[in-house]
Amino acid sequence: MPDSARIAVLVSGSGTNLQALLDAIAADAHFGGQVVVVASDRPAATGLDRARAAGIQTVAAALDDHPDRATWEATLTDLVAAHQPDVIVLAGFMRLLTATFLARWPDRVVNVHPSLLPAFRGAHAVEDALAYGVAVTGCTVHLVDELVDHGPIIAQRAVPVEPDDDAASLHRRIQAVEHWLLPLAVGALCRGEVHLDGRHVRLARPLPA
Ligand code: GAR
Repeated sequence: MPDSARIAVLVSGSGTNLQALLDAIAADAHFGGQVVVVASDRPAATGLDRARAAGIQTVAAALDDHPDRATWEATLTDLVAAHQPDVIVLAGFMRLLTATFLARWPDRVVNVHPSLLPAFRGAHAVEDALAYGVAVTGCTVHLVDELVDHGPIIAQRAVPVEPDDDAASLHRRIQAVEHWLLPLAVGALCRGEVHLDGRHVRLARPLPA
């Protein structure tokens, strides 16, 4: 990894995790990386507005503008690759990426997911955890592989479910933890502190509890 890793962030929605990452980088001279581009499958995503407000270049590729998923992914890959990123962060990016995309950045694509994986994979993790009746859920930052919400886990933190929680209140508390955990994990990856042993992640330095 270079002295300052080039980070591409992919967003589909509000981009609060993107914002947390930008704030963490701005606050830490030794973070080890900088966001060079923010990409989205939704040209109107609020996350792109956050990037522009921070003076960061944005690109967008809408699935509907392409004849099929493979063509869409190829467009997205080219738009992102043009910025020569070392690390890709999926921060609320709600589309699946195939092995073709992942092969460009092996073991350097990170996702944040609002559950304690392997529980509650997929796009409705918070609703599914509530419906199941768990007492504790949380968030996971993991490397991305070809399966959905499956790759090696870098970090997880628990969030208790309160009796009067609805999906919105629970997701807000999970996101507050994500906003702290995702930048810690991305920083570790940028500084070359994340090592893989099969599907086990070994961190050169433990992340704060
Ligand atoms: C985050 O809570 C993230 O964990 C979730 O989307 C939210 C995006 O929020 N991702 C997934 O559910 C992926 N399966 P944000 O746009 O405000 O960062």
